[in-house]
Parts: sequence; C-alpha cells; structure tokens
Amino acid sequence: MSDTERPILCVEAVSRRFADGDVQALRRVSFNAGAGETIALTGPSGSGKSTLLSLIGLLDRPDEGRILIDGQDLAGIRHPHAFRARRLGFVFQYHHMVPTMTLQENIEAPMLALGVPAAQRHQRAGALLQAMALEHRAAFLPRNVSGGERQRAAVARALVNRPAIVLADEPTGSLDSRNGQRVVELLIAHARAEGALVLVASHNPEVAAALGRRIALRDGECVADIGA
Ligand SMILES: Nc1ncnc2c1ncn2[C@@H]1O[C@H](COP(=O)(O)OP(=O)(O)OP(=O)(O)O)[C@@H](O)[C@H]1O
Ligand SMILES: [Mg+2]
Repeated sequence: MSDTERPILCVEAVSRRFADGDVQALRRVSFNAGAGETIALTGPSGSGKSTLLSLIGLLDRPDEGRILIDGQDLAGIRHPHAFRARRLGFVFQYHHMVPTMTLQENIEAPMLALGVPAAQRHQRAGALLQAMALEHRAAFLPRNVSGGERQRAAVARALVNRPAIVLADEPTGSLDSRNGQRVVELLIAHARAEGALVLVASHNPEVAAALGRRIALRDGECVADIGA
C-alpha cells in the first residue's frame, strides 16, 4: 500500500485470549491494508489466522487493541449483521450452502438480503457461475455436485454483493490444484475489478505466492510482513 493511500483496514495492537486467558491466540498484531490488496495470512496451525479473520469479520471481538474498516472502529458498530452483509464476503474451508436451494439460488441469496432486483440477481449470479465454470450446475442442489464445485459456488456467493473486503479461511483446502488455482484467480480478479481487499488464510505456499503480500503469524504474533 502506498503511503498516500488511506487504508481500508487498520489492525491496531490487537490481542485475543481464550480459555480464561490460558491461550493467547493473538498478541498485539498490527498492520494496515489498502483497497485492491491481496494478502495471504500464513503460519503454522494454531498461530491465530482464523482468530484474526473472525475479529476482522465481526464474528468475535478483540480483548485489546482495535480494528477499523474505512476509518470506523468495529467496536462501535451497532448492527454487525447489516455491516457484514454490505461490506464483507466470507469464504470458509467447508462451504455453508443451504442444502434445499440450488447453486444459483444459494448464490443469489445474499443479494436478496440487500433487496437487489430479480433481473440483476439473475444476471450477477449467472456471470459468477460462468467465471467459476459452473453454468451447467446452476440448477443442481449442493449435495448433487462435487466438493470442488460446491466450494467454487461458495466463493461466487461470497463475491456476489461485491464486498469491499473478502475474508477467506483456507478456501482451497478441499480442492485439487486446478480448482484451487481457479478460486485464487477469481479472488484476485475480484480485488482488481472492485478495488477490494482480499485476505486469505492458507497453508498452501502456491496460494501465498499468487497473492501480492504475505503476513506471517507465529504463536499469535506477526513475524513477517512481505510485499506491503
Ligand atoms: N474459541 C476458542 N476457544 C479457545 N481457544 C481457541 C478458540 N479459538 C481458537 N483458539 C485457540 O487459539 C489459537 C489460535 O487458533 P486459530 O484457530 O486462530 O489458529 P489457525 O492459525 O487458524 O490454525 P489452523 O491453521 O489450524 O486453522 C489456538 O491455540 C487455538 O486452539
Ligand atoms: Mg484456522
């Protein structure tokens, strides 16, 4: 991020403890990130990657420090659900698709919540299904497609409201390398097209190599920040 650019995300000396203080999941983690950046969060199992994504995604709160999105302190957000729906997109290792809805309907669901008109919902979902090579699976239920197809549909769903920040936790964990690459390419294309910040927690060195910057955690501490 250039010095003149205003960061979209500021993480300021954030700490998080669990289990009555026995586990220090994050220790004074700080970094700024700008629009259009693609960042890999790396580090061994238990180093705090998912905890950090949960805090940025308003699914949890820090014990110390603060997180700002577009200059707004997350601690002061009164309606986290609405904030998440408008500003954030989540991708998890294990997709959470609604089992009774087709892939197309699953992808359209977040737009329904924002009151996007039907024609636009259909058009946007269709474009993403195409980008994910899933046109032929649009009318299928999640249980009737492969794990890789479900995961790609979950990525499409996370991007459909054009979120300013995408948080992805091991999004390629259950995919082969071809499909993993497709997911990473779509995330990078989204960052470019929308000027979005994309943060991806991953153990996969290929994923980290494809992204613009790498923040490494170890025992809850930020130990490297490469490519900022
Ligand atoms: N809800 C919780 N209650 C207690 N401890 C937790 C909780 N969530 C995470 N932890 C602990 O916090 C530390 C960081 O966990 P976290 O899930 O953030 O790691 P991670 O880097 O995402 O690991 P992985 O690569 O295995 O996904 C670990 O020691 C974990 O056991
Ligand atoms: Mg994790």
